[in-house]
Amino acid sequence: MFSRREALTATLKLAGAVAGQAMVGGARAEVGHDRNARVPYGSCVRPEALETEVDYRAAFLTHCQQITPEGGLYWGEVHPTRQQFNFDKPDRVLEFARTNGMAMRGHTLVWYGAMPDWTKQIHGAGEAERELNGYIERVMSRYRGKIKIWHVVNEPIDDAKYAIPGLRPNIWLQQLGERYIDMAFRTAHRVDPAAELLLNEYDVEFADATAPKKRQALLKLVHGLLDRGVPIHGVGLQGHLRGQLAIDRDGLSKFVSEVRSLGLSVHVTELDVLDDLLPASVPQRDTIAAARAFDFLETIFAAGRPAAIVTWGITDRYTWVPMWYKRKDGLPNRPLPFDANYQPKPLWNVIDYFCQQKA
Ligand code: XIL
Repeated sequence: MFSRREALTATLKLAGAVAGQAMVGGARAEVGHDRNARVPYGSCVRPEALETEVDYRAAFLTHCQQITPEGGLYWGEVHPTRQQFNFDKPDRVLEFARTNGMAMRGHTLVWYGAMPDWTKQIHGAGEAERELNGYIERVMSRYRGKIKIWHVVNEPIDDAKYAIPGLRPNIWLQQLGERYIDMAFRTAHRVDPAAELLLNEYDVEFADATAPKKRQALLKLVHGLLDRGVPIHGVGLQGHLRGQLAIDRDGLSKFVSEVRSLGLSVHVTELDVLDDLLPASVPQRDTIAAARAFDFLETIFAAGRPAAIVTWGITDRYTWVPMWYKRKDGLPNRPLPFDANYQPKPLWNVIDYFCQQKA
């Protein structure tokens, strides 16, 4: 599956990144207290572990300038029944973020996933509009001025394999049509005009048959939103890299450049490397994972520094990956920058290297 050449290139690139890190080490010391000089690094977080596990908390305190609740702001958690709102988890994450000078990111206001059952009973455009707007108003007004970056709409593009994909089916598309996206952004902007509002999407970076189609669909959507004067400020690239797939540098580069040329920011929002199809050997696997991330980040940075690099977890101890991409050989997945014992992996060196890049 991996040619010797590919493995060799990966090793060399990684060595380059680590050498580069050593080279700018002095500069880092010099700007050590100025967080703005670095591209902020962040991770999603599980509040239970944050409160019970010293090493987990230490990893965030040592490395993160940003933090995203992993699931606490899903509809299913915030609004489990028609009557109930529950802000316990995001409030706990916010408290931790504020106490420690980190920025909290809001993930996510509109997503097809993690929807509570009661929303299946929403019928008709009027009711859908009321529920969607009411939810955004309720959640965003609670965190106005506190959560300054929102993934307003998550994964809006369908996964269709053979055509240019349209919008992914969800309750809002069904009841309101495409305008549900416009509405979500407009309402979010009305509630907190200072918040940075993003569209968040995945699978746009690979050298495979589907990524170019997904990019095309996403650009079409973004152009449409801007043409209609919808207040969208940036695009989040989730970056759930598939270890077995190379990065399409050319395609990704054109995509990122076009997004930026529209005046939109670019954020890496959920970086990890899905390693279910990678070789068993840990050193080999970690090297390939780091090399994929290197290709991904280098391409993005070539078009201009992104606003943030956020990974979807910080330690292999707590990751969503085995829920969806478990390895057949039973070995634990290793998708994240620190291993299950909080030792830094080559992936961390790559991330740290890019976070140090000057504008
Ligand atoms: C994952 C979470 O990490 C899990 O805890 C949850 O059960 C399923 O989803 N894209 C996203 C994230 O935007 O919200 C998903 O998170 C991973 C894929």
